[in-house]
Amino acid sequence: MEKDSSSGSENSTRSYDPRDMPYEFEKEISRLRNQATFLWRKERTKLTQLGLKRGMKVLDLGCGPGFISRLLTEDFPGIKLTGIDLNSELLEIAKKELKDSESLVRLVHTSAEKIPFPSNYFDFVYARLVFQHIPNPSTVAEEVFRVLKPGGIFVIHDIDQEILGLIEPDFPMRERLSKKFSKAQAMKGGNRYVGRRLLRILKEAGFANVSMDGIFAHSDELGTEGFEALAGDKEMISTLEKKEYLSKEEADALRAYHDEFHSNPNKIVLVITLLARGIKPSN
Ligand SMILES: C[S@@+](CC[C@H](N)C(=O)[O-])C[C@H]1O[C@@H](n2cnc3c(N)ncnc32)[C@H](O)[C@@H]1O
Repeated sequence: MEKDSSSGSENSTRSYDPRDMPYEFEKEISRLRNQATFLWRKERTKLTQLGLKRGMKVLDLGCGPGFISRLLTEDFPGIKLTGIDLNSELLEIAKKELKDSESLVRLVHTSAEKIPFPSNYFDFVYARLVFQHIPNPSTVAEEVFRVLKPGGIFVIHDIDQEILGLIEPDFPMRERLSKKFSKAQAMKGGNRYVGRRLLRILKEAGFANVSMDGIFAHSDELGTEGFEALAGDKEMISTLEKKEYLSKEEADALRAYHDEFHSNPNKIVLVITLLARGIKPSN
């Protein structure tokens, strides 16, 4: 793995730090793995529709531990994949994940604000669940515009907390906690409502033909197991309580809800993620 010293890279963003989660590092890595594999079948179809093809020079921006990078190299053979990330510890995992991949070109420890590649270099840039952690999304979008070839494609896959989906049986404190966690992320420079802004960010950076798409993950289609792995457990609730992210009242309510949800055979979960695409004009 290379380090780009000119970009002043640090080891984590303030908004996303795998060492500052409500559970241990290994558990966070396994959460990222679940999050990557569980949506992948649908995601792959969308990426194909949005223009990703075999043979392209692809940048996985904010590749983290490389789980998505590996799936990209497996399902789009012949792509030439570069991964960049701000976190060297995650890149070490990516290195192992991709050790047998002939498609991997480079993994670089750097910030997306200053991508250490020449202008007009990549065919396709993918940023998955990264923009919600970036305090200056316009700077990053402009930098992606620079490194894309004319006609190149930028896809940002992210969320908007307001339309993240639904859950049944519902949790009475869901709205309150969702606002609380979004506020905590915002205080660290992130934005869980970034989804609604993505097309504007792309247009302002110079991208044309912008379009919004979505992935709908429903438990009746995908089963409930993947959602349960993402939902967290009681250990996570206790840590959040200890760190005073949750009051005792909130933590008790969450523990009770956790039992109710897991034992309910009729539960429904629908998760919606957004894919914003822009194309760098050819002239
Ligand atoms: C939630 S993880 C997602 C990882 C991966 N894209 C995935 O979907 O599994 C967010 C990643 O974005 C990286 N990141 C955040 N801001 C960044 C920046 N300015 N430059 C490069 N990477 C960044 C973090 O280090 C982290 O690995």
